[in-house]
This record gives sequence, structure tokens and C-alpha cells, in this order.
Amino acid sequence: MTLHEVRPGPTGATPVVLLHGFPLDHRMWLDVAAALPAGRRVLAADLPGAAGAPVDLSEPSLESAADDLARELADAGIERAVVVGLSMGGYVALALAQRAPALVAALGLVDTKSTADADDARANRLRIALEALDGDTLEPVRPMATTLVGETTRAARPEVSERIAVWIDGQSPAGVAWSQRAMAARPDRTDVLHEFAGPVTVVVGDEDVTTPVAAAEHMVAAARDAHLVVVPRSGHMSAVEQPAAVAAALAELAQRADHA
Ligand code: MLT
Repeated sequence: MTLHEVRPGPTGATPVVLLHGFPLDHRMWLDVAAALPAGRRVLAADLPGAAGAPVDLSEPSLESAADDLARELADAGIERAVVVGLSMGGYVALALAQRAPALVAALGLVDTKSTADADDARANRLRIALEALDGDTLEPVRPMATTLVGETTRAARPEVSERIAVWIDGQSPAGVAWSQRAMAARPDRTDVLHEFAGPVTVVVGDEDVTTPVAAAEHMVAAARDAHLVVVPRSGHMSAVEQPAAVAAALAELAQRADHA
């Protein structure tokens, strides 16, 4: 795990920590980070195995990713943060909120869900992990450069998928396998939302078919203090497809965290 300092900021404003989706790394957040209002520290993680980093394949676990993140935050001198995760990053954010709630001032859950996988989805993840490892290949995840974006982006802005393809190319088969196995093992964390005392913002692209609007509404209904932001003309990669809209939602969340 590497925590990148994307932008320094003064003490006083709650820092924002951004957790990427699969099979990507912290670069997917850079447009959102640039669009956040100045005056707030912003960090973005490379989760275990991302960006080609070596990973221990004997222990794929989002819980260990959350524990690593807690250590990295402590090393960075951060006691409380607005923790934002897209898809897999959201699963890690929920694990952190469960395991180290004092660290989490607010939760931003972007194109993600709180429920566990159905059996067929879990089996598909394990198949992809095996294919990536056995063939030492990224082929099983390359189609995600186009399947993760929404139909509007796919039709009108092919360059968005081209950027995502470059990021996928920077991953490793071992990292892909680790992430798929870790996600397959995750439990339902809807109850974490019910217990979480801080502000929550749930963001979802209106064309997200991976974690659709219904999954976002399920999280909003479970949380104590949640806002829902549906991003128009966006699929599962709202932070890449429509970064200004996502940044606006997160800026509002960070302000709520400052005043909580
Ligand atoms: C992601 O974007 O992180 C993935 O779609 C997550 C998943 O496969 O559940």
C-alpha cells in the first residue's frame, strides 16, 4: 500500500483520502483531486497489489488492506479523514469504518455497494484470478476499460476508455488475482453504515450497470445521515467520466465533516 500526497493542505480542514477501484490505481482520482476546492489536504492510495506492487497471494483480504491503510494514515499524521472509495475502494472504506471508526470522519461511497457478492459473481472472480495467474496475463480484465464506463461515455468519448486501458496496463496479474480473491471474500457491510455516526455521501453514475442506482439507494437507506448524488451521463467510473460532479459532491461532504 502506498499513500500518495496529491495535494498538501493546512491543518484544520479534514483531509480527504481517495481509494481507487479495480483493476486500477490512484491515478483514476487525479482529475477529481484537481477539481476539489483548494485548502484541503488530499491523498490517494494505491491499494495492495495495485500499480504492479508485489503482493502476498496467501492472504488476500480487504480487512488487511483496511488495516494497512490505518497504519499509513497514522504514519502520515492523520487522525481523522474523509475516506472516499470508488467500487473496490468503497469496500475498503467500509472495512476501515468497521475496524477503525475513529479514523473516519465521513464516508464517500462512489459507484460501490455494501452487500457481499452473489455466488455466481464470487465464482467469476475466482475464475478471473486463476486465469490471470495461470496465464500471467491481464487479458481477463482488459475488457473492463470499456465495460466499466457508461453508454454515453462509450459512444461520445472513447478517449476515456483509452486512459483506463493505460491504467489497467500498469497492473500485474498477481495484483489482479489478489484483489479478486479479496473482494470475493468480503462480507455484507450494510450494518456498518447503520452504525457509522458521521456524514455519508453516496455517489452513483446514472448509467452504472456494475453497482447500479438501486445499490446506492440501499446504502442511503441504511445510513444515519446520507446524501445521494446521481451523476448524469456516467457509468461505473463516475470519478473519471464526470470528475467535476464527483468533486462537487465530495467537497460538500468534506464541509459536513469539518462541521460534524
Ligand atoms: C471496481 O470498480 O472496483 C470493481 O468493479 C469492483 C468489483 O468488481 O466489485
